[in-house]
Amino acid sequence: MISKSLDKAIELLRNDEVIGLPTETVYGLAGNAYSKKAIRTIFQLKKRPFNNPLIVHIGNLRQLKEISQEIPSKAQILASKFWPGPLTILLEKSTKIGDLVTAGQETVAVRMPNHPLTLDLLNQLEFPLVAPSANPYQSISSTSAKHVERYFGNQAVFTLDGGESTNGLESTIVGFEGEEVIVYRLGAIPLEELERTVGRVYLNEVKKNGIVSPGMATKHYSPKTPVIFTDSLSEQIEQFKTEDVAIICFDKLPVINHMESSIIYSFQGHLGNAAKRLYGLLHELDERNLACILIEKFPDHGLGRTLNDRLKRASALK
Ligand code: TXA
Ligand code: MG
Repeated sequence: MISKSLDKAIELLRNDEVIGLPTETVYGLAGNAYSKKAIRTIFQLKKRPFNNPLIVHIGNLRQLKEISQEIPSKAQILASKFWPGPLTILLEKSTKIGDLVTAGQETVAVRMPNHPLTLDLLNQLEFPLVAPSANPYQSISSTSAKHVERYFGNQAVFTLDGGESTNGLESTIVGFEGEEVIVYRLGAIPLEELERTVGRVYLNEVKKNGIVSPGMATKHYSPKTPVIFTDSLSEQIEQFKTEDVAIICFDKLPVINHMESSIIYSFQGHLGNAAKRLYGLLHELDERNLACILIEKFPDHGLGRTLNDRLKRASALK
C-alpha cells in the first residue's frame, strides 16, 4: 500500500514492522535497527543472504554517538560536508548494534539521508532505521513508491510516498584504514568530489588485502531483460535483426536503418539526468518483454563512473 501518512509509518515502525521508505538516493526497506524481528523480516522479504550487512540511517548526530565508537577525523570532515546526503560511512560499532545488522563485522555502515519526510520521520522515532535498497536481492533498486509496491505490494508492505528519488543512484560507501579513505562502493557522490574534501581516496577494488564489500558483488542491479553494455553501440546494433530491442544512449542518437520500431532513448549528454533516470527507465523497459536492452557506456568520470559500475553488474551473467 502506498501512503503519505507519516503517523502510520511511525506506528508501524514502533511495532517492529517493515516499511518502504523514500530517500534521495533510492527507496529503502526500513525497520527498527534495534529490533531483531524487523531485521529478520527485511532479510526475508529481500531474499538477501545474512552475510550482507545493512546500512543504519540516522536523523541527527546524537544517534551517531549511540551506534558508533571512535569517529576518525576524516570521517568527521566528510560527515559535516556531505550529511544529510548520499554518503555512507563505515565506523566502529557500539554494543547497541547487533550482529545481524553488521553480519558479524565490527564496523557499522551509517548514513543521514537527505529527504525531508524521512529526516522528519527519523527525528520522531526513538531508534535509528536499518534500510537496504527496496528490491529483491540482485534486482534493480527502486526510485519511486510505485517500484517498491510492484516488488513487495503483494506481501502487504506499506510504502511511504516521498516522490521520485532525486539522485537515483545508491550512496557512496567509504571506510578508513588509518589515515586512508577507502571507497567500498561507488555511488551518488563522485570520487572527484570526495577527493576535493579529503585528498586522495583509494578504491577497494585496487587495494590489496581489502575486504570486499558485498555491494560490489558481480551480478547486481539487474533487470529481468538481458542487458548488453557496450562502448560501440553502432557495431552492436548492426548485429541485431530483431526489433524488440531498446537502445539507451548517453548523447547522440545512433543511425539505425533496419530496426524502425525499436525504442531509442538518449540522456542528451547529461550525467546527472542519466543518474536520476536510469533505474526508472530500466523498470519501465523491463515491463515490455523485450529481447534485450542495449546500453552505451558513459564517459568514465564523475557520476559516469558510478553508472558504468552499476551497468557492468546489471549486464553480468552471474
Ligand atoms: O543509498 C543507499 O545506500 C540505499 C538507501 C536506502 O540508503 N541503501 C542501500 O543499501 O543501497 P543496500 O543494503 O542495498 O546496500 C548497502 C551496501 C551493501 O552492499 C552492504 O554489503 C554494504 O553496503 N555494507 C553495509 N554494511 C557494511 C559494513 N559494515 N561493511 C561493509 N559493507 C557494508
Ligand atoms: Mg541494494
